[in-house]
Amino acid sequence: MIQIKDFKNYEEKVIETQGWVTNRRSSKGLEFLILRDGSGFAQCIVSKDDVSDDVFNVAGRLTQESSVKLKGKVVKDEKQIGGFELHVSEIKLIGTSVDYPITNKEHGIEFLMDNRHLWLRSKRQWAVLKIRNRLIYAINNFFQKEGFVQTDSPIFTPNAAEGSTTLFSSKFYDDDAYLAQTGQLYGEAMAMAMGKIYTFGPTFRAEKSKTRRHLSEFWMIEPEMAFYDNDMNMDLIEKFIKYIVKDVLENCETQLEMLNRDITVFKNIISEKFPRLTYDEAVEIIKGKKKINGKTSIEVLENDLIQIKNKIEDCNTEITEKEKIIAGGVKKGKRNFLQNRIDTLKNDIRKLEIKASNIPKWIESAANFEYGNDFGGSDETVITRMFDVPVMVYNWPHQIKAFYMKRDNENPELAKGVDVLAPEGYGEIVGGGERETDLNLLLSKIEEHNLPMKEFEWYLDLRKYGSVPHAGFGLGLERTVAWICGTQHIRETIPFPRYYGRLRP
Ligand code: 4AD
Ligand code: MG
Repeated sequence: MIQIKDFKNYEEKVIETQGWVTNRRSSKGLEFLILRDGSGFAQCIVSKDDVSDDVFNVAGRLTQESSVKLKGKVVKDEKQIGGFELHVSEIKLIGTSVDYPITNKEHGIEFLMDNRHLWLRSKRQWAVLKIRNRLIYAINNFFQKEGFVQTDSPIFTPNAAEGSTTLFSSKFYDDDAYLAQTGQLYGEAMAMAMGKIYTFGPTFRAEKSKTRRHLSEFWMIEPEMAFYDNDMNMDLIEKFIKYIVKDVLENCETQLEMLNRDITVFKNIISEKFPRLTYDEAVEIIKGKKKINGKTSIEVLENDLIQIKNKIEDCNTEITEKEKIIAGGVKKGKRNFLQNRIDTLKNDIRKLEIKASNIPKWIESAANFEYGNDFGGSDETVITRMFDVPVMVYNWPHQIKAFYMKRDNENPELAKGVDVLAPEGYGEIVGGGERETDLNLLLSKIEEHNLPMKEFEWYLDLRKYGSVPHAGFGLGLERTVAWICGTQHIRETIPFPRYYGRLRP
């Protein structure tokens, strides 16, 4: 049985393959099937002249998502997805499919989410999950090559680590327990045992926020390194992000193309140094007080708004032109072609209008930003708009960071944390920093955060027995997949997403 991805090795050979029919159309004694098998997609042609009546009739009755075994000759055709098609000689129906709910027409997102178990079969979802898979592979490769040991942290935990407001509570036999928000504290213990470690597991945050960036269950990669300060941490983060982006670009060309992802935006990422801004500098940018390449953020956004309005006007002009041609009377084929273009333009306008309505809000909330606050989604968008590569923001007000963050010796108001913000409004993909080693500071922070001291005794032991400077970070897998794939919403980046309001299927 030959997989679609391997058709290229069987040019002009007769082979057998199996999969599902995602689409069928008929035309003058020919049936065109699009077969998918998980490895790829291929057009398969059944010609009335080449096969028995029986086979041709079977082909003509194949419904969307029927499963089949096909025999046929692999023929090169560069116009086709994958570059090869199958000239079918035999068909065996394996499983029928009646009234498959997801058709070629547009479906609402809630309908698609309710049918997630089937939606996963569509081309776009396939491309996203293949990229997710490659990212996971690249992430493991990177850390293994760098000499990190993969260790796992528990999911049942007795206490909060990132803040008690986002805990999912559970029971562990008779004990109260919570689902892990991070593996970091355990990672620190393992780094003291193994030197450089990384965990890669599911993490849980009970955030009642319905944004395009938040999941309740997501996967996080958390390296932790003994004898690292935050500068070394930032060097590692930059090397790591460059590595995984490059790997995906090299290995997922087909999938990125299917997603219409403009990959020129990634070219600089591999070669250019990521800007490192202190929190103070980032705030100056948000408030339009600091110029980057001669412009303030407000100027850049105002200019964006003008450009968007011009684009909307161009779209409207083109729509009017095309509608005039249609009204003048044209053949059916040409009319369909023009109508498709009009629909695309109308869709573009809708997206542009959303953007245009957002920009004044961003400008307003940026102007009102108060020093000392955490960045919201729109603040992150404003900062990253000024650069075309990910931006690292470090030295944060310690009040808004977790209890374990190391205080800056030069300015005790600041903590040595770092966030990495992805371009194009994808927001924070990495959070990390250097860890506090001062036992007394840790004790007071644990109290200040109202955390149960007895649950942290083991953690404090790490500061008592051969404590060393150490640092680490967490990369959110789904946020990274969303950014690389250019998906509108994070829910498409994980097979069965869990977010506020969505537990099924
Ligand atoms: O910034 P966070 O909360 O950092 C930590 O958990 C640290 N303990 C990590 C460490 O230093 N070892 O989360 C890290 C990353 C974020 O930058 C984001 O990419 C992702 O995890 N993340 C989420 N992704 C999806 N949905 C959510 N609700 C997320 N919350 C955080
Ligand atoms: Mg964070």
